[in-house]
Amino acid sequence: MSSKGAWKVAVVPGDGIGPEVLRSALAVLDAAGAKFEQVLVEIGFGRWKRLGLAMADEDLETIKQCDCVLLGAITTPPDPDYRSILLRLRKELDLYANIRPFRSKAIDLIIVRENTEGLYSGLEEVGAEEARTLRVVTRRGSERIAEKACEIAAKKKRLTIVHKSNVLQSDRLFLKTCQAVAMRRGIQSEEMLVDSAAYNLVVNPQRFDVIVTTNLFGDILSDEAAGVVGSLGLCASANVGMNSALFEPIHGSAPDIAGKGIANPLGAIRSAAMMMEWMGETEKATRIEAAVQWALDNDIKTPDLGGGCSTEDVTDAVADYLERP
Ligand code: IPM
Ligand code: MG
Repeated sequence: MSSKGAWKVAVVPGDGIGPEVLRSALAVLDAAGAKFEQVLVEIGFGRWKRLGLAMADEDLETIKQCDCVLLGAITTPPDPDYRSILLRLRKELDLYANIRPFRSKAIDLIIVRENTEGLYSGLEEVGAEEARTLRVVTRRGSERIAEKACEIAAKKKRLTIVHKSNVLQSDRLFLKTCQAVAMRRGIQSEEMLVDSAAYNLVVNPQRFDVIVTTNLFGDILSDEAAGVVGSLGLCASANVGMNSALFEPIHGSAPDIAGKGIANPLGAIRSAAMMMEWMGETEKATRIEAAVQWALDNDIKTPDLGGGCSTEDVTDAVADYLERP
């Protein structure tokens, strides 16, 4: 928090539908009475097209001066030397936990994805005939993600540790470390191979409460969970570290529907609710989540959910609900 006592949020609209859904999230935060300082940071594909650089060092500095980041979506530019901005931000801010809740009639689970190592280590050797990527699992990395998952599981019951330790030695370290943390903290845990988890997520999603897993497995399982919930457009995420956090819908920039006014804003709105929760504004977070649920229950839905509403219709409905006495 800044010296004036107000939270300072780096607001990153990004590309494609990013600016549209971010506008919705900000409107809903305003309707919920959230107060914070906004620092606009223009990074992404648009900036790359204009200036040949998707994010400058100064942008990163500006972001680091803020308490957290609220992001729309960013397109990956067609540049062979390009490093994903999202991955850079996760690494630079050491946002080690990617927390992704999935809620619908069929499912109520949270995926806690390790966010800084695994197959996203960035350690690669690329030759014409052979390319390698080093999968890094550390005890410290596994311990801190397990601690975060246990913290969440303490409120939500069972923890499932998802791994592939029958093949990957690196996952044995992950599994053992997570089990030890769960045991020490008195959290009931089970383990499951990732292929089996992928299957169960489709046939019996109710059996999961909290899943903790490594980076790439978490990436894949979270899109699968979004499919089970009904749309990527509904799902939010919080990337959290010790001193900072970044909130973003888990969908991408969807350039095919950008500017059409039909993007589902609920993932971004729910990400804003997660930001409120992180700031300790639990009551505002709960109210926003309830308003989203109300809109869904009343079929105020964008086309990805089979509805006929626009981004603006859904945003207005959620905001109006929040402003009711
Ligand atoms: C996600 C995305 C990112 C990831 C991409 C855009 C680098 O798929 O947030 O899930 O792989 O983590
Ligand atoms: Mg992904």
